[in-house]
Amino acid sequence: MERYAGPILVTGGAGFIGSNFVLHWISQNRGRVINLDLLTYAGNLGNLAAVEGIPDHVFVQGDICDRRLLDGLLAEHRPAAIVHFAAETHVDRSILGPAAFLRTNIEGTFHLLEAARSWLAALAGEKRAAFRFLHVSTDEVYGALGPDDPPFHENTPFAPNSPYAASKAASDHLVRAWVHTYNLPAIITNCSNNYGPLQFPEKLLPLMINHALAGKPLPVYGDGRQVRDWLFVVDHCRAIETVLERGRVGETYNVGGGNQQANIDVVHMVCDLLDELVPESPHKPHRQLIRFVEDRPGHDRRYAIDARKLERELGWRAQETFSTGLRKTVQWYLANKAWMNEVTSGAYQNWVHMNYGHRGEKKSAAPSPAGAR
Ligand code: NAD
Ligand code: TYD
Repeated sequence: MERYAGPILVTGGAGFIGSNFVLHWISQNRGRVINLDLLTYAGNLGNLAAVEGIPDHVFVQGDICDRRLLDGLLAEHRPAAIVHFAAETHVDRSILGPAAFLRTNIEGTFHLLEAARSWLAALAGEKRAAFRFLHVSTDEVYGALGPDDPPFHENTPFAPNSPYAASKAASDHLVRAWVHTYNLPAIITNCSNNYGPLQFPEKLLPLMINHALAGKPLPVYGDGRQVRDWLFVVDHCRAIETVLERGRVGETYNVGGGNQQANIDVVHMVCDLLDELVPESPHKPHRQLIRFVEDRPGHDRRYAIDARKLERELGWRAQETFSTGLRKTVQWYLANKAWMNEVTSGAYQNWVHMNYGHRGEKKSAAPSPAGAR
């Protein structure tokens, strides 16, 4: 891979996918990254320890809603692209407190678009022609699928169901409008559920791994038959890199692993891997820790992504299967217990109490009505 023609500005690069992307980009010697992150509960400089102090990584703690800061960063660093990850991202938190989602995901994206637009207006020639604004979004904007529906494609109408999904859908609409109205050279990617190293343990996989290692209950929502399409995070990073290089301005690209799994099956796989990789665990078999608990309100039943446009037009392919990616992921959390201990201290405990304290255990995983969400 060649060095990129200029630094790139990454937002949210201390979070899960953003930090994996920054590490991936720098490990390939692609050039300098200006990493703007507010360091909310989800952002962690520990994720970036491997690039701390190296000239190709410039970390700036700040808010994407701070227009003066954005203007200053663009003028100072003159990036060749903006890769926009920063967001509030957890559905359960959006149900308990949607305001932060509207602020960061909608207003923040608006400020970033406006800053990019006015900075670009002062540019000319090659620099202007090569500039890209890549908006990283989610498959949740498309709503939920029934069991026999075809996977989401780029023209599936938006039907977001959670405050998180609605705020991301709104941000996608803003990006589209800035392309259409102002010719901003932006591209959108909508990706399915990611998993891998450095994911904050409020999300399914790291939460289950963390609880299982501690012998705590594994809280499966509802009947556990909700389906997600899982993609290893480094494959997502490669997809973003591909779209930055070869994606067409104004287009949307769906990203997914073609890897649909029911939650309960994923939890079973994690338990079985831990039985194998931690043979001395006093909590074996880890499946005994599974508890079916009260469901998430409005829980989307199924997501699945049709990524054929990205594959066909830009030649991207996922490199990990779910089995190889999951094994790497569990091994990473086993090898990085200090990371887990650090991110689960303090305020994290309040979150666990707030989200799980009221969820009574169900006696069994009674199936929900056909097609129900
Ligand atoms: P994350 O919650 O792990 O990280 C978000 C990062 O954004 C954190 O570092 C946080 O400090 C930062 N941030 C939050 N508010 C900010 C603000 N106002 N200004 C600057 N920084 C701020 O999220 P993630 O899972 O890495 O997701 C990254 C992006 O990818 C999001 O836009 C998300 O919608 C999208 N996405 C995520 C998934 C997934 O499975 N995790 C799937 C598809 C798309
Ligand atoms: P999550 O990781 O929160 O991602 P998303 O809601 O964006 O898909 O959840 C993935 C699936 O796992 C989702 O169907 C909800 C379910 N889930 C549980 O069953 N128990 C849990 O404790 C969590 C966090 C999620």
